[in-house]
Amino acid sequence: MRTGPAVLVTGGGRGIGRAIALRFARASAFVAVAARTRREIEAVADEVGRAGGEGLPVEMDVTDLDTVERGLARTLEATAGVLDVLVNNAGVFSIQPFPELSPATWYRMLATNLNGPFHVTLLALKGLEQSRRAHVFNLSSIAGRQAFPGNVAYCTTKYGLRGFSDALRLDLAERRIRVSTVYPSATDTSIFDGIPGEWDRARMHRPEDVAELVWNAYASPPEADVADLELPPRA
Ligand SMILES: NC(=O)c1ccc[n+]([C@@H]2O[C@H](COP(=O)([O-])OP(=O)(O)OC[C@H]3O[C@@H](n4cnc5c(N)ncnc54)[C@H](OP(=O)(O)O)[C@@H]3O)[C@@H](O)[C@H]2O)c1
Repeated sequence: MRTGPAVLVTGGGRGIGRAIALRFARASAFVAVAARTRREIEAVADEVGRAGGEGLPVEMDVTDLDTVERGLARTLEATAGVLDVLVNNAGVFSIQPFPELSPATWYRMLATNLNGPFHVTLLALKGLEQSRRAHVFNLSSIAGRQAFPGNVAYCTTKYGLRGFSDALRLDLAERRIRVSTVYPSATDTSIFDGIPGEWDRARMHRPEDVAELVWNAYASPPEADVADLELPPRA
């Protein structure tokens, strides 16, 4: 029988989401691993099982409210209606100086990085309300606090997610649902694959560093200040 929390991680198929799924698995969590690539979410759900938790692969495109609804229904069916932790982690990144920024890139980034967390949080709320220790994590970025060249679309979404997260915290406080915004700096994942530029991956954080930050906030006492979780660049 499961002893840990019931968790949903979007973008759980690789990178930071996978690391967060596996960190909660070590605490005997049930983890719904949500993303679009079936092969990856199945592999991570298996890893969750081997790490001490229970994994459920959930096919979900966070831009599409119908798939989010079906994914939440599957998740809540498996957890008797309770969701303790929601990690809004699914996100996309690209670098395009503004004159080259296409409407398609702009719309895709807003749809994934902003509409996505809105869709998932809206439909997860009834599960979170059933939890005695509910916590929502929103993966913003250092680019949600500071601008970078070629990042007009990405910074817009990550600054926007900061606003979403700060305002959500106020609205969910009386329901005792904690809300944390996570601001990682560069972390070595597939998000940098194919991105032009010189990326010194060895100097980046590991996805496990972000996962530990999230886990520690979840495990902290209810009165702890967990609003902003920052992971500054490595020295
Ligand atoms: N890596 C960094 O340096 C860094 C720094 C700060 C913040 N972040 C943020 O951290 C989060 C995770 O990044 P990462 O580096 O782990 O990226 P990643 O390795 O590219 O993984 C992204 C995950 O999101 C999923 N995803 C993308 N679009 C989706 C959609 N429409 N619906 C459902 N899932 C979707 C992907 O799966 P599918 O493609 O299979 O759907 C994948 O599992 C992102 O929000 C990112 O902006 C990353």
